[in-house]
Amino acid sequence: MQTVARVDALRQQIKQWREDKLSIAFVPTMGNLHQGHLSLVNKARQLADKVVVSVFVNPLQFDDKNDLSAYPRTLAADVEKLESVACDLLFTPTADIIYPNGMEGQTIITVPGMDDKLCGQARPGHFDGVATVVAKLFNLVQADIAVFGEKDYQQLLLIKKMVTDLNIPVQILGADTHREQNGLAMSSRNQYLTAPQRQQAALLYQTLLAVKKKIEQGEHDFVTLEQAAFDDLKQSGFSPDYVDIRRADDLDRAKPDDRAFRILVAARLGNARLIDNIACNLA
Ligand code: PAF
Repeated sequence: MQTVARVDALRQQIKQWREDKLSIAFVPTMGNLHQGHLSLVNKARQLADKVVVSVFVNPLQFDDKNDLSAYPRTLAADVEKLESVACDLLFTPTADIIYPNGMEGQTIITVPGMDDKLCGQARPGHFDGVATVVAKLFNLVQADIAVFGEKDYQQLLLIKKMVTDLNIPVQILGADTHREQNGLAMSSRNQYLTAPQRQQAALLYQTLLAVKKKIEQGEHDFVTLEQAAFDDLKQSGFSPDYVDIRRADDLDRAKPDDRAFRILVAARLGNARLIDNIACNLA
């Protein structure tokens, strides 16, 4: 695996692959890789001749300075993991490389309709930071395909919309959420949890499954279902931001005659803000 930090080195390799008519799949990450990330890389591996992974902890998407400085940076371990899944090129830019003129005057991409609901409410500016860095990375890597985890479902839809709205020539694919044995969605933020909290955190997934079951059983008073799930989590020691039943395709509020739903949760437990979601499709 080749590792490059500079834009000219990245562009040179991409140009060579393009001249050789090789297809490229891309997995953007913030590092601290776990099995969930590696499954995205494995998926990318099956879809293209070459796989590029980026590791960049993007300051522009952190609404909280402490969260940014605490974010785990584990590049040496990440390199080893990426070598084990046969990644071809690792791009590890610094903030100076991604934001050469600083972040203050940076052109910002806002994806209307996707940026200000659900996690966008609790984390103002977060999705502008995500959209902006992902657009920049797409322009740098010029991949045919990019793979994102469904654990960040709102992010996945936001990026799909941005790519459509801006005619960025890349196909966006989602990949299933990877879970611990107890059902907890894998996340770099899980390491902020103590061992007992990790067990407790599995309740998020159980809550989503319970809501799904009720919808499948014909309960369509979504506000009541959401409120009951929210209260249960609160009673179990979480500080929930939301438990919401949304339309799967645009994350607008679900109506009883919709058929394809996404049930989403965000809650704090100890030092971690955790998110998760599942699909719910009615026949
Ligand atoms: O999901 C992430 O890790 C980040 O939001 C992403 C897509 C790499 C952008 O920084």
